[in-house]
Amino acid sequence: LNPETVTVLLGDRSYDIFFGREIYSLFQEWICRFYPGGTVHVVTDRNVASIYGGDIQRWLAGIPHDVLALPPGEEHKNFDTVREIYGFLARGDAGRDSLVVAFGGGVVGDLAGFAAATYLRGISCIQVPTTLLSQVDSSVGGKTGVDLPEGKNLLGAFHQPTAVWIDPQFVETLPPREFRQGMAEVIKMALLGDEDLWSHLQDHAREIKQAGSAALTHTIASCCRLKASVVAADEKEAGHRRVLNLGHTVGHALERLSDYQILHGDAVAIGLNSAARLAVRLGWFSRETLMRLEELCREWQLPTRLPPEFTPDAILSAIKSDKKCLDGKLHFILPLRIGAVIERSDLDMEELKRVLQEQQGS
Ligand code: NAD
Ligand code: GLY
Repeated sequence: LNPETVTVLLGDRSYDIFFGREIYSLFQEWICRFYPGGTVHVVTDRNVASIYGGDIQRWLAGIPHDVLALPPGEEHKNFDTVREIYGFLARGDAGRDSLVVAFGGGVVGDLAGFAAATYLRGISCIQVPTTLLSQVDSSVGGKTGVDLPEGKNLLGAFHQPTAVWIDPQFVETLPPREFRQGMAEVIKMALLGDEDLWSHLQDHAREIKQAGSAALTHTIASCCRLKASVVAADEKEAGHRRVLNLGHTVGHALERLSDYQILHGDAVAIGLNSAARLAVRLGWFSRETLMRLEELCREWQLPTRLPPEFTPDAILSAIKSDKKCLDGKLHFILPLRIGAVIERSDLDMEELKRVLQEQQGS
């Protein structure tokens, strides 16, 4: 067994991302090698446990471990659930040499990662992501997060995992709407930094839709390679990592205005189209490429138009109150061509307003 590997280069905190179907025997060897004496604590959610309970046992076969299945969903990404994880670790006698295994989607990854970052001032965590979104984005890069009633991800820590294990087969059981949320981040990655991935998405949509296909594995690995290079260049988001926010300025505003009824990926898809339209308006991006972006979004049933109930003014004021706008300037990532973006903080809000009007009307 020789799985494809991508390394996130961060000095003595560098780690590997392993890809492949049924890579659990290598996973077991790896744990036995790097965590020979420590206890192993698996955190998952009840949906994942009900579908993959047997797989969790297969992945951990021969390794003494305990399992905590959390209530699923973003509504449980809160401090009460983190407290539950702390109790689970304490009852399991977790020590500084213990390992947390986050086995699930982005919510499990963010919660288990945050608990690992803070328990005993930080213990090791590895990620086994099971949603497309967590495989292409959240499991890599070390951001952990917990929501407060006052806002999403207001608690968090940078805590890099010690490895990420990606079996694309897990996404087979995802409801289509969850798969679509991940595809919005995939399209974002291609647009911001990977022309080959963009061509792959255009040319192999049918194969990518087939669960367990090599085309899907290639898609996931390409996203991780790109994210790994961005994180290696700017781990703590001092600058360059902000390119990953492409599409998120308008996207976050829509999520918040809709009280999260618009799902994250759908909001990002609309936001990608806003950014591309703004770039076209400024003469930095071609109209033809904007049309290709719209086609790609349609291929994956992702929206591109602004829902009529949100006025451009409401969206602009939501953007102004976003944490990305706190220094009073709008930081906007704009595409220049497929695979290249630029960050600008000198954009005229009126231009954006016109784009939003156009995106709503056409
Ligand atoms: P999620 O973890 O809520 O998973 C979505 C749903 O799918 C859940 O109901 C889950 O139980 C279920 N599920 C998980 N795996 C499954 C499988 N294989 N088959 C069937 N159902 C499955 O959501 P998500 O989209 O994976 O992640 C979203 C979260 O990730 C958000 O909280 C967001 O803030 C966070 N996030 C974090 C980062 C980061 O860098 N840390 C980046 C992006 C997003
Ligand atoms: N999802 C954005 C980041 O990891 O920086």
